[in-house]
Amino acid sequence: MRPLSFLFIIFIFMACNESQEVKNLKLRVDSLDQKLSNSYSPGLGEFMSGIQVHHAKLLFAGKNENWKLADFEIHEIMEAVEDIQKYNTDRPEVKSIGMITASLDSVNAAIIKKDPVAFRSGFNILTNTCNSCHQATDHGYNVIKVPDNPPYTNQEFKIQ
Ligand code: HEC
Repeated sequence: MRPLSFLFIIFIFMACNESQEVKNLKLRVDSLDQKLSNSYSPGLGEFMSGIQVHHAKLLFAGKNENWKLADFEIHEIMEAVEDIQKYNTDRPEVKSIGMITASLDSVNAAIIKKDPVAFRSGFNILTNTCNSCHQATDHGYNVIKVPDNPPYTNQEFKIQ
């Protein structure tokens, strides 16, 4: 047998062996893929409903100069925005979500400075930005406003 054909046979042998491994790997990847696509992740509307609650609580925390609670609420909104970018990539509207970052940052800065005036103007701009994005994504009928009353009666917004 010529050395070259010998090498060729060895190569085929290795290729066959490997292809079984590759097949096994593919099967595992397929089953993991299926598990992932069946696993639950919240939709954009669910994240927005959460943001709505934190947006309302944020106002009453800030109005009461309860800066620790305000800090908590603004970070809940920031986390939800990050999660939207991670989990809702199938929604084209998510491309516009970045427009909210600057207004969240300025409310956050007012909270750090414990500045009630900057907080109120930042909150108004934040609320306008919610609506700008709703308009930009054909959800303009979903109008967000500065809330009149705390969203829940079972939570204290004043510092205890
Ligand atoms: C991407 C830009 C974008 C930004 C920024 C944004 N939204 Fe939304 N919002 C949407 C889209 C798109 C929907 C529709 C989601 C759906 O299809 O269920 C929505 C829906 C909502 C809903 C309706 C949820 C429901 O089921 O009733 C509320 C409430 C809401 N947003 C609140 C807010 C608030 C409050 C802010 C600002 C703090 C905000 N949104 C910022 C895009 C945005």
